[in-house]
Amino acid sequence: MRSLTNVNFDQMTKPDFLQYDPWPSAQVLLNALESSALITRTVISNLSKGQETVSISSNLNPPHWEFGHLIWFQEFWVHRHRAPSNPSFLPHADALFNSSGIVHDDRWQVQLPSIDILQNYFSDVTERSHAILRSGSLTPEQAYFLQLAIFHQDMHNEAFAYTWQHLAYAWPVERGPEVALLQTDSLEPTYIDMPASQIQLGSAPHSGFIFDNEKWQHKVAVPHFSISSDAVNNGQYLEFLEAHRDSGMSPLVSPPLHWKQEGGRWYERSFHQWLAMDLRAPVRHISAQDAERYCLWRGLRLPNEHELTALMLSSPANWRHSGLWEWTSSIFMPFAGFSPDPYQDYSSPWFDGSYRVLKGWSSYTPEYLRRPQFRNFYLPSRSDHFCGFRTCLA
Ligand SMILES: [Fe+2]
Repeated sequence: MRSLTNVNFDQMTKPDFLQYDPWPSAQVLLNALESSALITRTVISNLSKGQETVSISSNLNPPHWEFGHLIWFQEFWVHRHRAPSNPSFLPHADALFNSSGIVHDDRWQVQLPSIDILQNYFSDVTERSHAILRSGSLTPEQAYFLQLAIFHQDMHNEAFAYTWQHLAYAWPVERGPEVALLQTDSLEPTYIDMPASQIQLGSAPHSGFIFDNEKWQHKVAVPHFSISSDAVNNGQYLEFLEAHRDSGMSPLVSPPLHWKQEGGRWYERSFHQWLAMDLRAPVRHISAQDAERYCLWRGLRLPNEHELTALMLSSPANWRHSGLWEWTSSIFMPFAGFSPDPYQDYSSPWFDGSYRVLKGWSSYTPEYLRRPQFRNFYLPSRSDHFCGFRTCLA
């Protein structure tokens, strides 16, 4: 029998999502909402006529559908109190924009409202969120769902960025200065010896907003390993490609789609611009499958989720981030004791064993989502998002 002193009354009485305090102030949320909305508005309003029409693809969403979806999400969770019986501002919004209800390919088939109607919907919903934040009486439930909606919008803003990169559209949002700084010092990787340790994986209650796949914090023993201080760069990856080309090895290995060679020189496309390749910049848009082919050729391996988390939690001098989500060899699975939060489709549908964990963040991820415990996940065949990798000695 458990002694009463071990019982956490909070956990008995409150749903998990109400234990994600401390809650940010209304002003902090207002700032986050504003900066997220500014990116969305800038991206959508700078699309030239015709650019909203994209070929059907399992990796992308039609831009205007994605815009409607992120507005609907905020309206549904924050203002309609997650009840379909509470009407939307926009007729047929649930049928059109609930990602859990409309299958992917149908997003190309449905008749979407005009862009003027969608922009009014966006202004209405954003203004209603502002009104809550200005009211001076923010409840924990409102603070949770506002954060969920803002972070969801941030993730779709990042999806706009990698979609624009994939489609070679100009990206209309100014980026921070960090992108220019992301360079390794040399073409040769340096390996950091990480002694065996115990780390805390996952997040604890009362540590601020978390996503359900981080529940709950637990100790993990990480055996000794050696990991590169920097992500693999373009020069290192080019050696791998050239070795395969010269030897006639695996036909599966080919240059990334955003690379081209002209007149003996390599170029890398950034959105709509072809730039001379910087050999010391982290290589990006590499699938986990190609990253593993690279590792095999070098006699190395990808880090697992525990190892990459241990690196991120160690000295900041060790974790030299690449400005890219970094692949791990770990399958995306729930931690023991997982239970879904109200937005049940955030993690649960993707625990089918086919997704990989990525750690870190990209240059398009807001500062407040850059946390060592954040777990991203994609199919290992994907390379369109901002992803790279670092290696461990085998
Ligand atoms: Fe979404």
